[in-house]
Amino acid sequence: MRVLLTGGAGYIGSHTAVELLADGHEICIVDNHANSSSRALVRVEQITGRRFATHVADVRDTIRLQAIFRDFEPDAVIHFAGLKAVGEGETQPLAYYDTNVGGTGSVLTAMDATGCRRIIFSSSATVYGNPVYLPLNEAHPCAPTNVYGRTKWMAEQLLTDWCRATPDTATVLLRYFNPVGAHASGLIGEDPRGVPNNLLPYIAQVAVGRREKLGIFGDDYPTRDGTGERDYLHVVDLARAHVAALNHATGQTGSSVFNVGTGKGTTVHEMRAAFARACGLDLPFEILPRRPGDLPSYYADVVRARAVLGWQARYDLDTICASAWNWQSRNRDGYGG
Ligand code: NAD
Ligand code: UFG
Repeated sequence: MRVLLTGGAGYIGSHTAVELLADGHEICIVDNHANSSSRALVRVEQITGRRFATHVADVRDTIRLQAIFRDFEPDAVIHFAGLKAVGEGETQPLAYYDTNVGGTGSVLTAMDATGCRRIIFSSSATVYGNPVYLPLNEAHPCAPTNVYGRTKWMAEQLLTDWCRATPDTATVLLRYFNPVGAHASGLIGEDPRGVPNNLLPYIAQVAVGRREKLGIFGDDYPTRDGTGERDYLHVVDLARAHVAALNHATGQTGSSVFNVGTGKGTTVHEMRAAFARACGLDLPFEILPRRPGDLPSYYADVVRARAVLGWQARYDLDTICASAWNWQSRNRDGYGG
C-alpha cells in the first residue's frame, strides 16, 4: 500500500515508518520539523535499507499538501503531525487548535481533493479526562481536562463527521496511552527538545548524566507506592498497531476507535527501578510537589484492539527500559549529538 505519514520524522512516526517499510509498504513523509530532525529519516533508511520520499512542509499548507498528495497518490494517511506538550497547550491554545484541529482539517481537504479514502489518527488517552472507572475502555466518557486533550477530542469529532459524510471512507482513531522505549537498533528514539516533560526521557537523561536527578511529582497519590501510575507501551508495539489499523481500514468503511496500551499500570518508582536495572546505575531522585493537572492512575482496557485488530503489546517493562537505555547511551545528545 502507498502510505503518507504526516509528522513521520517524529518519535512515533519514525518507528512506524520502519515497521511499514519492513512490511513492504511504500511511504512518503510530510513533516515541517517543528519538533524533529531530518536525521531520524536518514536513520530509518539505514535500518530498513529502503529509500522513500520526504517533504519538509506544514500540514496546514493545504495547497502544498494537495500537490504532494497528487504526486504520491496515497492509498492511506497516518496523521501523526501535531503539537503534544500539555503545559505549552495551556499557554498557547491558538497554536494547538490551529495545528491539531486545523491541521487535521487541512489533511482531510487534501484527501478529498485527491480521492484518498483511509486515515489513521494519533489520538491520546488524555481525551478521557478523569477516570470514572478503570481500566479505561473506549466507551468511557470523554471529558479532557486540558487544551491539548480538547484539540485531540475535537480532531476525533472532525474525522468521525468527515467519515460519516464521505462515502467509502475509513477512519481509525488510535488512543495511545504512554509510548516509551526505542527501536532495538539504537538508531532512532525519543529526543525531546529542552527539559523533557515526560518521565522516561527524563530518567534516561539522568542515567547518561545530562540531568542531576529525577524529580518525582508527588508520592502521596492513592497508588501502591504513592507515585503516579500509567500504562507504558513500547513504541515498536505502538508502531505495529498502526500496521494492524491500516490492514483493518483496508477491509472496511466507517470510523472506529481503539485504545493502544498494555492494560498494565506502572508507578514512577517502579519505572525508575526498572530503568536502574537496565542501565546498572543508581538513579538519584527527589520527591517534589504534585504536578498540576496530573491524574493519580490510569491504564487501558485493551480487549477491543486484540479482538478486532488482532494486535496486542508484546514487550515488557524491562525490554522497554533496555531499549531506551540502548538509544540514550549510544546517542547521549539525541540526534543533535
Ligand atoms: P513528535 O513531536 O515526536 O512528532 C510529531 C511530528 O509532527 C514532529 O516530527 C513534528 O515536527 C511534526 N509536526 C508538528 N507540527 C507540524 C505541522 N504543522 N506540519 C507538519 N509536521 C508537523 O511527537 P510523537 O510523540 O511522535 O507524537 C505523534 C502524535 O501522537 C502526535 O499527534 C501526538 O499528539 C500523539 N500522541 C503522542 C503521545 C506521546 O506520549 N508521545 C501520546 C498520545 C498521542
Ligand atoms: N513524572 C515525574 N517526573 C517527571 C515526569 C513525570 O514524576 O519528571 C510522573 C508524572 O507525575 C506522572 C508519570 O510520571 O505520574 C507520567 O508522566 P508523563 O509526563 O510521562 O506522562 P503523562 O501520563 O502525564 O502524559 C503523557 C503525555 C500526554 C498524553 C498522555 C497519554 O505527555 O501528552 O501521556 O496518556 F496525553
